[in-house]
Parts: sequence; C-alpha cells; structure tokens
Amino acid sequence: MAGSTPADAGEGADEGGRGSGTVGTRPASAAPGPAGLPLLGNTLAFLRDPVGFYDELAAYESDVVAYNIAGDDGYMVRHPEAIQRVLVTDASDFRRAQITQDSLGQVADGGLFLNEGEQWQRERTALQPAFYRDRVETYAEMMVRYAEQRADAWRGRDAVTVSDEMRTLALEVLTKTLLDVDIRGRESEIGDAAERLTANFDAGTVSAFLPMWVPTPQNRRAKRALAAFDSTIEDLVAQRRAGEGDPEDLLSILLDVEFEDGTGLSEQDVRDNLFTFLVAGHETTALTLSYACMLLANHPDAQAKLHAELDAVLGDEAPTAANLFELGYLGHVVDEALRLYPPAYTVFREPTTDVTLGGYDIPAGSIVTLPQQVVHRDDRWFDDPDAFRPERWAEDRDRPEYAYFPFGGGPRHCIGMRFALMEAKLVLATLARCFAFEPGTEPPIDLSMQLTLQPSEPISVALTER
Ligand code: HEM
Repeated sequence: MAGSTPADAGEGADEGGRGSGTVGTRPASAAPGPAGLPLLGNTLAFLRDPVGFYDELAAYESDVVAYNIAGDDGYMVRHPEAIQRVLVTDASDFRRAQITQDSLGQVADGGLFLNEGEQWQRERTALQPAFYRDRVETYAEMMVRYAEQRADAWRGRDAVTVSDEMRTLALEVLTKTLLDVDIRGRESEIGDAAERLTANFDAGTVSAFLPMWVPTPQNRRAKRALAAFDSTIEDLVAQRRAGEGDPEDLLSILLDVEFEDGTGLSEQDVRDNLFTFLVAGHETTALTLSYACMLLANHPDAQAKLHAELDAVLGDEAPTAANLFELGYLGHVVDEALRLYPPAYTVFREPTTDVTLGGYDIPAGSIVTLPQQVVHRDDRWFDDPDAFRPERWAEDRDRPEYAYFPFGGGPRHCIGMRFALMEAKLVLATLARCFAFEPGTEPPIDLSMQLTLQPSEPISVALTER
C-alpha cells in the first residue's frame, strides 16, 4: 500500500485523480493512502478513531484511496461515476464484502441483506410487494397516530432526548406495520437486541473485530439480547400461524411465500429476515429523525420556513400521505439531514473479478468502500458542504446522480426507502406542527461508526409548544 500524504496525492494526481479523465490504468498498490505499520497496516489508526480515519482518507485529493485494516486491502472510492458503476452498471461484478458477512453473519445465517445470488433474487421479488407505494401509503395514518401519541407525551416537557424517543417510536411503527403487533410496553425484547448489536459492531472497539463466541461482557450482553429477541419472534410466528394478524403484511408474506419450485422459506429464513428488517428498518429511520430535529433546533430560519409551510398546507389537520406532495420544504429538510448524517454511512462491496475504478486496477477480493459520509460533503458537488441548507435541494444544480446515495443504489438499493422517507416526513411534520425545537445538542457533534452512524452522546432538543 502506498504511504503518501494527502498533499503528495494532490500534486501528483493524474489518472484516477479528482476530476481527471482516465488515461491508462495503474495497479491499486499505487493508489495514495496513509502509511501503515508492518502487518497491522492502518488497523490501530482506525481503531483509535474511525471517524478521524475516514476524514484522513477523505483528505487525499484522489478518488481512490488505499488502506489496510485487519489484513484486508481496502479502497475508498468516492467519485460518483465510479460509485454508480459499482452499485448499478457493473453490479454483477461485485458482492457484499466478506467483512459484512463475517460480522453480521454471526447473528443471521441469511436474510435479504446478507443473501447473494438466486436466493437473494427470489426473496427480494417475494418481499417487494410489502414495500409497493400503494401498500406503504396504507401505513401513513398509523405512522401519524403513533407520532401524535408521542407528541401528547411530550406536552409539558421542556426538553426531550430525541435519539431515545425516535428509536422507540420507529420500532413501534415498524413492528405495527410490518408484523401487525403492538409492542408498546414490550419494546425492550426487540429494541435491546438491535441496540446491543449496533454497539457490538462499533468500529472503534476491539469487539467489532472479535467473533461473538469470545466471552467478552459485551458479547455476553449481545447474546442474551439476541436470545430474548428470538423467543419474541417465535411467539409472533406462532400467533400468526394460529391465524391472527394482517394477512398482507411482511410477516404473512414471509410465512406464506411459495417459490417457483414449490418451496418456501424455512423457519430460520423467516427469523433471519425478521431480524434483518427490524435492525435495518428502525435505527436508520430513528437517526434520520433525530438528526433532523437537532438540525432544525439549531437553524431557526429553516425551522421557521418549515412551520410556515406546515401551517399553510395543513392548517389544523394532521398530515396525510397525499399532503407530502405539497410539503416540498419538509422533504428537503429530510434530504438534507440524510446528506449530512447518512445513517448508513458506507456501502461495502467486494469485486468478484479484477476491476478498474477511477483509473486503478483493483483486485478481486479486496474491499471497496463507498462512503456516503464523505461523498455527501464533497465540495465538488455541494456548495458550502458542511452547512445545513435544505433550500439547496430546490436549486437548479447539476451534480452526478451518485453524489448523493443515502439508500445505496442499483439492484440492492434499500427496499425500505419509500417506507423510511414517508415515515420520516410524516413524523417530523406531526411533531413540528406541535412544537418548536430549540437548541439542546448543538452541532458539530462527535459521531460513532457502529452498524449505523450514531451520535456519541444522546441527542436532545428543548421544546416549546406551538
Ligand atoms: C433512513 C432510513 C434508511 C436508510 C438510510 C437505509 C439505507 C440503506 C442502504 C444504504 C442500503 C444498501 C446497503 C448496501 O447496498 O450494501 C439498505 C439496504 C436495505 N435496507 Fe435500508 N435504509 C433505511 C431504512 C430501511 C427500512 C425502513 C427498511 C425496512 C423496513 C430497510 C431495509 C433494508 C433492507 C432489507 C436492505 C437490504 C436490501 C437488499 O440487499 O436487497 N431499510 N438500506
């Protein structure tokens, strides 16, 4: 791996350098990147401060930056055209990276997120109807009802820890819509499993690199939480098999699916998918909402615009799915929160064959890192990139499609994207109608790279009733 400095790379950038065309290719080993220690590569620097390490990679004036963590050669690729090739155009040359399989594979054998090839394709086709627009819109009323109940609970309070509140709310919404169960009061069995696992994969801790069977206190806690989760899932499945619940929701689809060869999903496949959807679907949306509240609280002008739009479009009524077409600024607030704080902060892929990206020949089996967190703040695509400016999304600005990809892209893009965006907008509209958010936690904040991009400290906002 190269050991150049960001400045060297800037001066020397030619093919593969920022903004230049590709003239011939070079071996991946020639890509600039931080020098590493013998055997350890950049592992220690990464463990010490993962977010700082990403920033260090981002400081290289190159669209491909090389690193080595835990013995694996990795390449951060951040030109949107190269990202589009990995995710969309040449998607068949890439698979989920082995590091994803190694970590998540310890808690799920399969499920839509981890599966590859034919099994992935048939599951994706079978589960897609649960996320069609018409189906997702039937969830709108319930999303608003749950948000209103939370607003009622907030009345009379001076401040709330939005990161906790949103996690609970998102979990309630997800379990009610996808599994038709009301878990209010018993969130912990599912919420704890998700939270413990997220913490277990904190990139800045050694536990992220230790197998789950190593009996660290953290691993033991995660295992207990998983056992509680599994027994809750068993109960849910038993109730549904006994004929209770919504016959069209995700759980019913999972239980009833019949593939062309007459087979269905095994109990293990059902459990792995429920686990996948609960983990992928609630922290991500909760974080989007928490970051959006924090940003609004600290940007009174933006919040005033949002309030004006909500008052004009909704008056005294609760929001509906149909209103979202008229609530353009609300949409821009959510887009901008996802730009600055993308909950899924990096997509990892592994080329199954040697590939050329950004002018470098990248060998099969290496790790290709597509960092939303870095690309979304690149000043080539976003003016004043660190500023929270929802208006930017209404401006006529030419930028490559994959300069912004909070939900990934191509065949494996987020299946829950429509669901998440609708929930984030309806919940934010409901809460912002009732309250003005005022500063509690103030950006910039320290972040922690877990399964999702978490705030290092809980996020709180002060409240005034409107
Ligand atoms: C703001 C909220 C969300 C964000 C930012 C987000 C982000 C992402 C991203 C970036 C991917 C692609 C990962 C990759 O290609 O490696 C993904 C995949 C996925 N997401 Fe989401 N997600 C969100 C909400 C949801 C929700 C609400 C659900 C389910 C209800 C969900 C379920 C999934 C699943 C199952 C996959 C794997 C899809 C596949 O491989 O076919 N996500 N998500």
